[in-house]
Amino acid sequence: FLCFFRYTYECLVDTAKYLSDKVPFKPKVGIICGSGLGSLADAIENRIEFPYEKIPNFPLSTVEGHVGQLVFGYLSNVPVVCMQGRFHYYEGYPLWKCAMPVRVMKLLGITHLIASNAAGGLNKDYKVGDIMIVKDHINLMGFAGNNPLQGPNDDRFGPRFPPMNRAYDKELIEKAKVIAKEVGLGDIVHEGVYTCLGGPNFETVAELRMLGMLGVDAVGMSTVHEVITARHSNITVFAFSLITNLCVTEYHKNDEANHDEVIDVGKMRQKELTKFVQGVVKYVADE
Ligand code: 6GU
Repeated sequence: FLCFFRYTYECLVDTAKYLSDKVPFKPKVGIICGSGLGSLADAIENRIEFPYEKIPNFPLSTVEGHVGQLVFGYLSNVPVVCMQGRFHYYEGYPLWKCAMPVRVMKLLGITHLIASNAAGGLNKDYKVGDIMIVKDHINLMGFAGNNPLQGPNDDRFGPRFPPMNRAYDKELIEKAKVIAKEVGLGDIVHEGVYTCLGGPNFETVAELRMLGMLGVDAVGMSTVHEVITARHSNITVFAFSLITNLCVTEYHKNDEANHDEVIDVGKMRQKELTKFVQGVVKYVADE
């Protein structure tokens, strides 16, 4: 009941304890699978799965047909916890609810977060199926006064006014570019700026032109609030976008973004992306 207005530290500790009591290892890396990227989770070995509706205090999933589960196990022999399916703002959850699992993962012991998403490519050099390693974000929803850290701050998670430069770990970005080459993604990997809009509609031409002028390379509907919450509690972050469609910034073009192509392109890159994430996870553990 209390969790309806905000999650207290104690409430999140209860959730973490429910999970850690049932899992015989401590996860080192948290992973969030974006739309169409759920197969990343399928590569996890010795799995223990928790459907979101079984986890105490987890947001209640309102959208049917969405996979939603927390998967514990080993990826590249590294203990991980993976969100197969995430909570989006457009589903009606406030941002602090969307990002709540990040705090639970922190309490479970993760030191690193790997967040993935499907995004529209705005940078003219990007093609469908390309990968964009996120080097920075623009928190547009924050500009509009919405932020997952709003409300009373609990110093046990992090400071009231956390810095957000260096949000995306430089060393991981450099290493990930090398790993991308090794797994055959070398020609299609970029580094760019991501922004999150609330959705659920895709953007108008004027909106996309505006975002382009602001220096945005890829547009999506997730990740930023999770990264802010992770950085607040000093989790090292790596994020990447799979470019599932190209943003239409011309009035004479008739193509429209649609959700099916977002899912299909995810499937097309499944194999290499799984290897890519496995490589990053291994590097994090060997570091
Ligand atoms: Cl074009 N826009 C947004 N906001 N999210 C997306 C997308 C576009 N393509 C995939 N996800």
